[in-house]
Amino acid sequence: MTWVFTAKTRFYLHDDESLLDGLLRTGHDVNYQCREGYCGSCRVTLTASSYPVTYAEPPLAMIEGSEILPCCCQVKGMVRLKDVH
Ligand code: FES
Repeated sequence: MTWVFTAKTRFYLHDDESLLDGLLRTGHDVNYQCREGYCGSCRVTLTASSYPVTYAEPPLAMIEGSEILPCCCQVKGMVRLKDVH
């Protein structure tokens, strides 16, 4: 089970649910377009995680050190996101 902490709330991801889908399901205001890791519009800033965030394939979108792409990243344990409401 993965727990997600945001500025708004905390919730857990369902099995096989992407972080983006979890954020949308719980009413967060997150931008997205491609859902495949190349547009970068979904990027959010990670402030903490209990495990490193990984990707099945390296995303094409440019991301800075603490940014992640919730449409295609793989998270487990606990993640805390900055300024996601
Ligand atoms: S929606 Fe395009 S990179 Fe996530």
